[in-house]
Amino acid sequence: MARTLFFFSLLMLSLSAMQSTHAVEYAVNDNTGNSGGGVRFRNDIGVDYSLQTLGSATDFIWRIFQQNNPAERKDVQKVTLFIENRDGVAFSVNNEIHVNANYLGNYTGDVKKEFTGVIYHEMTHIWQWNGNGQTPGGLIEGIADFVRLKANYIPSHWVQPGQGNRWDQGYDVTARFLDYCNSLRNGFVAELNKKMRTGYSADYFVDLLGKTVDQLWSDYKAKYGN
Ligand SMILES: *[C@@H]1O[C@H](CO)[C@@H](O)[C@H](O)[C@H]1NC(C)=O
Repeated sequence: MARTLFFFSLLMLSLSAMQSTHAVEYAVNDNTGNSGGGVRFRNDIGVDYSLQTLGSATDFIWRIFQQNNPAERKDVQKVTLFIENRDGVAFSVNNEIHVNANYLGNYTGDVKKEFTGVIYHEMTHIWQWNGNGQTPGGLIEGIADFVRLKANYIPSHWVQPGQGNRWDQGYDVTARFLDYCNSLRNGFVAELNKKMRTGYSADYFVDLLGKTVDQLWSDYKAKYGN
């Protein structure tokens, strides 16, 4: 009995060790000192909620991208979130997400929801394929905002469906268009992302939806009376 228990514990130990080699590690670095934004971050958001959101964003993105096993995903071991006093909203680089505390401090409205949306957007940049650098920037940003849209963390100032001038305008405009494409073929964005693992071509739209991206854009505009 004692022996069985011993081997059982060994098995559990090695199972948890195996799991941790696949689990992504998260860290938060609050470099804001006593800035107004830093205070707002700690009062209204906090490190615990940030860590939880980094994890839930990753899980959500893997699901949207239909990446059910590690071989399909980018090899990222650790993601670090920096909260710092700077300009702009946020950016990501080298498996780091940088969020501007001044933006949070000046935000009017539900700052926790806005923060969450920003994290979903930036975390998508950590996980998405970029066609070996060949994917247009507008599509990269559009996919990040598509994830944010699907997670239901979009701000009220976004364009409505059918608005915008070009399919690859980026951000909310491209996200709305991708949502339309995804409605024509469930999983379209996941399949597009999979194709961008090695390169990029506008023909991917034809391969997946049978129409050129320009035709899809005019169908989309026509659907909303534009
Ligand atoms: C608002 O933004 C300005 C400029 O970035 C910054 O100096 C100020 O501290 C911010 N206010 C708050 C409350 O964060």
